[in-house]
Amino acid sequence: MLNATSAVPQPMRPHGIQGRIFGALMERLNRPAYRLAAGLISLPPGGAFLEIGFGTGRLMEMLAERDGTVFLAGVDASPLMVATATRRLDRRHMTRDLREGNAERLAWGEDEFDAAAALHCFQFWSDPVSVLNEVHRTLKPGGHFVMVLRRHEGRETEWLPNPWSRMGDETGSAATLMEKAGFDVEYGIERGNDNGHSPVLIGRC
Ligand SMILES: C[S@@+](CC[C@H](N)C(=O)[O-])C[C@H]1O[C@@H](n2cnc3c(N)ncnc32)[C@H](O)[C@@H]1O
Repeated sequence: MLNATSAVPQPMRPHGIQGRIFGALMERLNRPAYRLAAGLISLPPGGAFLEIGFGTGRLMEMLAERDGTVFLAGVDASPLMVATATRRLDRRHMTRDLREGNAERLAWGEDEFDAAAALHCFQFWSDPVSVLNEVHRTLKPGGHFVMVLRRHEGRETEWLPNPWSRMGDETGSAATLMEKAGFDVEYGIERGNDNGHSPVLIGRC
């Protein structure tokens, strides 16, 4: 799913000129989701944050605006998004470690992060069990993981790599997978945003 081909849908891995346009549009549409997630992420001064599928890096920039001492790390499958987010955080002189790759295997060690988030990308993980295990492994005891899902419409589900996203109750399935990975799932809420509804799951280690 992550090989370099223009047949890959832009949301799954933004690329090329169209990817730049898509990235800007996505950022605009996802503002309510960033605000929602930022309100649920709590970091101590100088704390460490991990984002899976960070896209243009706007959420991390919002955390940087709140506290310029935090360490921001993340993985994204798109070289274009890694370059875009890196430029953005470097303009703010943030300490960061943004990597291109697949979230199924994270480059960081155990208990490194105070908080983690993944917005609108669960549906692109062909092996969500591995991703959630990896997020849990890298979070400190007491750390939390904010996952914002996205409603899928009609034929879109045909190309979603995550088998649980092609089934009926994606939110319930995601919660069950998070519990199996070792998270205490605190609650799921639905808030309206420009994309329809964004179910939110919060898992605590
Ligand atoms: C729809 S975009 C959402 C971006 C951002 N979270 C936001 O809400 O604006 C999905 C992002 O997840 C990334 N992605 C998809 N599959 C991934 C994977 N297996 N590992 C890491 N990143 C992935 C894509 O490259 C893309 O940047």
